[in-house]
Amino acid sequence: MTDSKSTKSSNHTSNEMWGGRFAAGPSAIMQEINASIDIDKRLWREDIDGSKAHANMLAAQGIITAEDRDQILGGLAKIAEEISIGAFAFSAEREDIHMNIEARLADLIGPAAGRLHTARSRNDQVATDFRLWCRAAATRMMAGLSALQTALVEKAETHADTVMPGFTHLQTAQPVTFGHHCLAYVEMFARDKGRFEDARARLNENPLGAAALAGTSFPLDREATSASLGFDRPMANSLDAVSSRDFALELLAAASICAVHVSRLAEEIVNWSSAQFGFVQLSDRFSTGSSIMPQKKNPDAAELCRAKSGRIIGDLNALLIMLKGLPLAYSKDMQEDKEQTFDGIDALELALAAMSGMISDMSVNEANMAAAAGSAFSTATDLADWLVRVLNMPFRQAHHVTGALVAMAESKGVDLADLSLDDMQSVEQSITQDVFSVLTVEASVASRTSFGGTAPDNVRQQARQWQAALTDQ
Ligand code: ARG
Repeated sequence: MTDSKSTKSSNHTSNEMWGGRFAAGPSAIMQEINASIDIDKRLWREDIDGSKAHANMLAAQGIITAEDRDQILGGLAKIAEEISIGAFAFSAEREDIHMNIEARLADLIGPAAGRLHTARSRNDQVATDFRLWCRAAATRMMAGLSALQTALVEKAETHADTVMPGFTHLQTAQPVTFGHHCLAYVEMFARDKGRFEDARARLNENPLGAAALAGTSFPLDREATSASLGFDRPMANSLDAVSSRDFALELLAAASICAVHVSRLAEEIVNWSSAQFGFVQLSDRFSTGSSIMPQKKNPDAAELCRAKSGRIIGDLNALLIMLKGLPLAYSKDMQEDKEQTFDGIDALELALAAMSGMISDMSVNEANMAAAAGSAFSTATDLADWLVRVLNMPFRQAHHVTGALVAMAESKGVDLADLSLDDMQSVEQSITQDVFSVLTVEASVASRTSFGGTAPDNVRQQARQWQAALTDQ
């Protein structure tokens, strides 16, 4: 109910679009709950594109005259210009974007405007506009993901040899390379992109021509409007065309999964940039200070990326719950689909951009990573593997022997590599000097050459493949 929103008034004249059977206008509260213009004005381009396609088709089919079509197209072009330069007065009395544009068209061209809505309803109109918007949104999310992947691949290439601790349960497990860690996210984001691509392909069908719900008696050419709007085909069932919003659900589902991936990476950045880890430093451009503690540099952008996931998942939930009890065909509940979808997509778009910036700008503290990588007996598995490979010990026994050596090192307060050969042989007689060659962090990561493993050569090769794939797009 703020004044900055579109003009609202409780005028008592009936609605100019559908007021034929109404004696009085809506109450102010009715208008407040009914109007969606503050949200759906974002669909203006799609609405105008849909109307142009419809007008062209109506004229081609002889349903309206060429003169009326030309007037309609001229008026729509003028409206597009008015909106794009901020000279269009959006009005809550005119409820939504469809009626705002149509009423303005009537202001501009008079009675011919009234012919545009022949064989069309706001039900197929809004479904068309919204599909077009979601299609473009999927494309934007894919571009945002490519940019983020590019930033990560660049870090992976630079840090193919940089060792860091790999964790399970957030306990040091085995050394990995930072490049390998970055590429793990590149893989996740590739699948996210695939989900947006799938959603985009599935939503690309044309509802226009379904009219209110039952189709129309006018001889429409739905193939023609499909082709001019870039849809693959007209939707085959008019009830489905006006009632389904699974395309928005899919978009938000893809966004939610992607947001979870962004959030996990954000959480890592929060950890890594803490004094306790000291693995990375964020640039000033992507961090903030504290108003009271002069030494602080806070990873706010990462924290907000982490938070956005909650919001996006919330948007998906709201839309699922809004739809779940709706009978066919259109119900006004569905008007609330757009606010959630816009919110979720805006949030993800911003999070992807912020994450790309943070990753690109971030500096890596290789010395701290290397020190941490070598601590907490991280090469214990390498020792066990050596016992298996060189002494032909069954792995279970090797695990036991290694455990005893770790306990010994721990009680002496040293690393495994600092034990003497005598110490080693006091636990397992047949151990030789050669064992020390596998106890360094560098040897450990270099040995992980299995497909998909963390060896620097693997990482370099994968990074190059990704670089090529991403520049090919
Ligand atoms: N603003 C409406 C929406 O977004 C447009 C469709 C209105 N249709 C109707 N039958 N009232 O859903």
